Amino acid sequence: MSKDKYHLRCVSCGDITKDFSTWFKQNQVCAKCGGKHSEVEYNNDYSSLLELLKEKNPKSFWHYFDYLPLYNKDNIISCEEGAIPVERWSFFEEYAKKSCDLDCNIYIYRNDLNGGTNTFKDIAASMAASVFKENNINQYCIASTGNTATAYGKYLSLAGVNIAIFMPKDSEATSHAEIASYGQQVYCVDGDYSRAKQVAADYAKKFNILISSGNIDPVRIESKRTMVFEWLRIFGKMPDVYIQAVSGGTGPLAIDKAIRELSRYMPDINLPKMLMIQTDKCDPMVQAWENAKLQNFPEGFEKQYPIIDNPPTEISILATGNPATYPLIAKLALKSKGNFIRVEENKVIDIARWVAFERKIHLGPASVVCILGLIKAIQNGEIKNGQTVLVNIGEGIKRAPAFLQKLGHHIKQVSSVENCLVPDMTNVKRELDLMLKIGNDQ
Ligand SMILES: Cc1ncc(COP(=O)(O)O)c(C=O)c1O
Ligand SMILES: [Zn+2]
Repeated sequence: MSKDKYHLRCVSCGDITKDFSTWFKQNQVCAKCGGKHSEVEYNNDYSSLLELLKEKNPKSFWHYFDYLPLYNKDNIISCEEGAIPVERWSFFEEYAKKSCDLDCNIYIYRNDLNGGTNTFKDIAASMAASVFKENNINQYCIASTGNTATAYGKYLSLAGVNIAIFMPKDSEATSHAEIASYGQQVYCVDGDYSRAKQVAADYAKKFNILISSGNIDPVRIESKRTMVFEWLRIFGKMPDVYIQAVSGGTGPLAIDKAIRELSRYMPDINLPKMLMIQTDKCDPMVQAWENAKLQNFPEGFEKQYPIIDNPPTEISILATGNPATYPLIAKLALKSKGNFIRVEENKVIDIARWVAFERKIHLGPASVVCILGLIKAIQNGEIKNGQTVLVNIGEGIKRAPAFLQKLGHHIKQVSSVENCLVPDMTNVKRELDLMLKIGNDQ
C-alpha cells in the first residue's frame, strides 16, 4: 500500500498531519494550531469501497482495510470483530404494534457477539493495537469506565504494547481482574470517571506516555465508522433511526464522520435520526438538551451542560458525569433531528429478563439501557410508521456477572418434593407482559 494512503486534517485550521507516526510525534495535536481534533482522510477512490460492500461474509471490519489508517496488513491485530450479525427482533415489532399501533422494522446490532471482548469497543481496540504495532508504540495509557479498558487491555496485550488503565472506583472488579490477568496495569482511582481521566492525564504527562485523546480520538473514530459501511453492506441504505446508550458518544461521532465522508460519492445517504439514551442516574446530556429545547436552542446552547460529580448510577459503563463531548454530540442530535432520551434505571432488570425470556440471550446493563430507550422511543412517537430502526447494543453480560445473578427469578429453595410444582413457561410470559404494561406508564 502506498505511503500516501491517508492523512489527518485538523478540524479547526485544516492543517495536514502526514500520518499517525507524525501525529504521535506531535503528541496528538495539530502542529499549526495545537487543536486536538483531527480527522483522517483517504486518498483512495471510493468506487472500490462500493465493491467491498458487495461482499456477503466479511470476517471482520478489516475487510475495509483500504479505508483504514494502516499501511501494512501484517500489523493487524484482530479477533474477528466488527462484522457482527444484525438481527430482526420481531417481538419488539409486535410490542410496537400492540402498544402503539406502530408498524416499524426493528434491527439489533449484536456487538455482544464481537470476537474480542464482546463489546462495541473491540473494533477500536483492534485498530489501536494495529496502529501502535505499526508505529512502534510500546507504552500507552487510557482512562475508561470498563469496556474500552477491557478491550484495550486485551488487544494491546496481543500486540505486545504496555498499557496503564485508569478506572473509576465504582468500575467492575471483574474487569480489573480480566485486564490485570493479561499482564497489564490497572489503576483503580479513588474517585469518579472524571477523576480517573485527570489521574491518567497526569500520568501521561509525568512519564511522557501517549494517552487516548478520548471520544474524538481518530484511531477510535476510524474503526467505528466502519459500522456505517457494514450497515450499507447489509441493508443497502442507512436506517431511519439509530438508537444507542451514550456515555461520551464515540459511536454517533463516528457515524457522522462516515456519512460526511461518503456523501460525496453517495448523494442519497442520510444521517439517521439519532436517539441517544441515558439513565435517570447519570443524565447530564439529557438535562442539557431539555434545557436547550425549552429555550429553543439559542446560539451557543451546546456549551451549556451540567457536570454531575460521582453520578449515582449502578451502570458503571455509562457513568460519564462530565460530558465533555456534549457540544459535539448536541450539534449532531440537532442536525439529525434526533433527541436525548432519559430512561429509568430501576427498570433495567425487568427488561433484561424480558429479553432473556424472548431471545434466550443475556444483554449487559448498558445494552439494556439502549433497549429501554427503544421502548420509550416507541411510546413517545419518536418512530414513525414504516421506519427502520437500528438499535446498537454495545455489550453482552460477560463483563457484569453480578448483573446476570440479578436476572434469576422463580428460583425456589426446597427441602423436598412437597415444595415443588410443575413449571409452566406461559406463566413467566404472562408476568413479563404484565410488567411491560407497567412499562407503558413510564
Ligand atoms: C455497552 C456500551 N454502550 C454504550 C457505551 C457508550 O459509548 P459511547 O462512547 O459511544 O458514548 C459504552 C461505552 O463504554 C458501552 O460500553
Ligand atoms: Zn489546526
